[in-house]
Amino acid sequence: MPLSKNETSEAPKKIACIGAGYVGGPTMAITALKCPEYIITVVDINKKRINEWNSEKLPFYEPGLDDIVKQVRGKNLFFSTNVKQAIEDNDIIFVAVNTPTKTYGIGENIAADLQYWEVIARQIRDIAKSNKIIIEKSTLPVKTAEAMETILNTNAEYHCEVLSNPEFLAEGTAVKDLLDPDRVLIGSRDTDSGIQARDEVVKIYSHWVPPDKIITTNTFSAELSKLVSNAFLAQRVSSINAIASVCEATGADVQEVAKAVGADSRIGSKFLQASVGFGGSCFRKDILNLVYICRMNNLYEAAEYFENIVNMNNYQQYRFVKNILKAMFNTLAGRTICIYGCAFKANTDDVRDSPAIPVAKALIEEKANLVISDPKAIKNMKKVLGGLENVSYVEDPYEAATNSHAILIITEWEQYGKLNYQKIYESMVKPAYLFDGRNMVDRKACYKIGFNVHSIGKSPLTH
Ligand code: NAD
Ligand code: UGA
Repeated sequence: MPLSKNETSEAPKKIACIGAGYVGGPTMAITALKCPEYIITVVDINKKRINEWNSEKLPFYEPGLDDIVKQVRGKNLFFSTNVKQAIEDNDIIFVAVNTPTKTYGIGENIAADLQYWEVIARQIRDIAKSNKIIIEKSTLPVKTAEAMETILNTNAEYHCEVLSNPEFLAEGTAVKDLLDPDRVLIGSRDTDSGIQARDEVVKIYSHWVPPDKIITTNTFSAELSKLVSNAFLAQRVSSINAIASVCEATGADVQEVAKAVGADSRIGSKFLQASVGFGGSCFRKDILNLVYICRMNNLYEAAEYFENIVNMNNYQQYRFVKNILKAMFNTLAGRTICIYGCAFKANTDDVRDSPAIPVAKALIEEKANLVISDPKAIKNMKKVLGGLENVSYVEDPYEAATNSHAILIITEWEQYGKLNYQKIYESMVKPAYLFDGRNMVDRKACYKIGFNVHSIGKSPLTH
């Protein structure tokens, strides 16, 4: 497929990315860094976000990203709100818009909401003045590429080839993940134009990704592999959390079990950290998306199997709150509870689907007073919980814990394992409780200080 009617090999190479979020911004910053001969324009309808990308303070916290953006912004990386121009000017277009769970109609609370993608497909079709390669960066249901191709190529003057190139970066380690990915996955049609388009995208990644890490598949396999990867990762967390409940009931220690089990090279040790539950914008959404696909294909047993990963996660969050209530004499009314961490994981300010949200809401229902602490995510958590009377926010963990009855560790920020718990204990109301939702503290030392220590998947240490 010729890229465009008038493009020659000497023309500057250009890429656009629609969607300047957690995926679009970082992926294009790394691509700009590694491909200096490409001019990359990232566009978004969110003016505030684009202004932030063009400012000293980027729209979100991601370790190492500021430095990279500074190196390339204004040279070969540009941020703009002019979506129309970007579509007109670029023949290689990544689309990294949001694909949240549907909150209405058929498939409500389970299927992916494709409205943002669909709008873009129509926009590209109406604006295009040349052939285009459209690359799905967003996570999408299987066969979305096919549906989008139908929209893009119906009554269209120019041809659009749709590829699937799902993103596997994790927040908090996005820069490292993008610079040194385990794999890059590119799905295309097995036609001449599909393979030619795929090779254009392979060419981009080949600037820094070794050939053996670039996997090419058909489009449907690429789309499905993304959902499956997230389902498998989340499944490990739900499995170890299920085992945590067994450990608490039997006197086994979940970290010892995880170490013993993970030592088997067939199983591996990663993603076996028992916790208050997984969060983030994608695990729940993508698993439910997979569940919906199974149901649509009448694969009800498969749907139920995957749905239980999410059910187990909900149960783990509920169990965490239930354990708090039980340990603190079945009443939290008027008690002050200090929450350490509201980001869904360490090294991000993202609170989307953070376990801190259902935990905080359940405690508010129990009429507890909350003091929420976090090194980066307070601003975002405030937006989620709104201005509630009995919730306050204090960044300093020592100040936050003062006069509280209990501390809950929800996010695995490294510093929470290293605090001076003697000093914290002294400032708290007694008996003082520590509910470690991430198994981070030296629990024996904290018990010795005077805390009643409740960990995940371990017998409590109580006075
Ligand atoms: P996000 O919400 O941070 O960013 C999406 C952006 O798209 C928003 O800024 C929004 O304004 C913009 N947008 C929506 N409609 C638009 C339109 N018509 N024109 C221009 N811009 C538009 O989302 P995200 O976290 O970056 O995720 C994007 C996709 O990538 C999702 O499908 C997600 O599942 C997937 N993904 C996310 C991660 C992650 O770590 N966040 C990792 C891998 C894959
Ligand atoms: C996850 C995947 O790891 C990425 O590969 C994927 O690209 C991304 O989803 C996506 O599609 O959005 P992310 O959600 O950013 O990345 O973060 P993870 O490191 O996977 O953690 C997810 C949640 O699981 C966090 O709440 C984390 O604290 C929790 N977790 C993780 C555990 O509770 N235990 C573990 O052992 C590992």
